[in-house]
Amino acid sequence: MPNETILRCSELTKNFKSESGDGELRILRGVNLQIKPAEIVAIVGSSGSGKSTLLHILGGLDRPTSGDVFWHDVSIYKHKPDKLAELRNQNVGFVFQFHHLLPEFTALENVMMPALIKDIRYSDAEKRASYLLNRFGLAERLNHRPSQLSGGEQQRVSMARALTNNPSIILADEPTGNLDEKNTDTILQLLFQLREEENVSIVLITHEKEIAGKCDAVYTLQNGILE
Ligand SMILES: Nc1ncnc2c1ncn2[C@@H]1O[C@H](COP(=O)(O)OP(=O)(O)OP(=O)(O)O)[C@@H](O)[C@H]1O
Ligand SMILES: [Mg+2]
Repeated sequence: MPNETILRCSELTKNFKSESGDGELRILRGVNLQIKPAEIVAIVGSSGSGKSTLLHILGGLDRPTSGDVFWHDVSIYKHKPDKLAELRNQNVGFVFQFHHLLPEFTALENVMMPALIKDIRYSDAEKRASYLLNRFGLAERLNHRPSQLSGGEQQRVSMARALTNNPSIILADEPTGNLDEKNTDTILQLLFQLREEENVSIVLITHEKEIAGKCDAVYTLQNGILE
């Protein structure tokens, strides 16, 4: 399906109550976006412009004030929270700026988790998780806990975890934000290789012009609008 859209949003708005409680902060004011299969898109914008807010709404983690999000042309916010969580676990891989790994579990267990939640057989989940960790250069770190890994390694585990269930899209919120140049390069190279290998689309929030320049398209979030 050449014209298939992996993710789409139309006229998204998001308001937050202002501190005093009597006004509203209009953070998103009508955002439209379409992501095609295996497309890599960067979103840039100043701090506080609403990038994380937008990414959370695109990933089904936060409800818009108005407008809608579609995964494979299906509106997601019409579903009840349980069903939405299930759909998210099947369709979307989320990479947070600060990895959010579970501290009491090993790298392997962290990466297996999304599959176990989906009731995939333990041995299959283990196979997929070891494959991904291997692919991310972490074959020697399967049984390390997050506290025993470097920042770059933790972020690679977090990216492996995002891929466990073969999502059609990865949403990454500044995945290299706290990494040095070498680790940033490694992560970026992996992302671009994975697009080929896993046929996955990627939305990447970044502050860095050089990273954005490598993507298929770059959008700027400014005054609540994506251009
Ligand atoms: N739950 C909330 N309640 C009230 N205001 C919020 C809430 N979440 C975000 N905001 C406000 O919305 C604005 C956008 O926040 P957001 O985190 O999306 O920005 P950002 O572009 O990701 O910034 P950064 O580059 O610093 O990560 C900020 O001004 C923030 O204070
Ligand atoms: Mg942010």
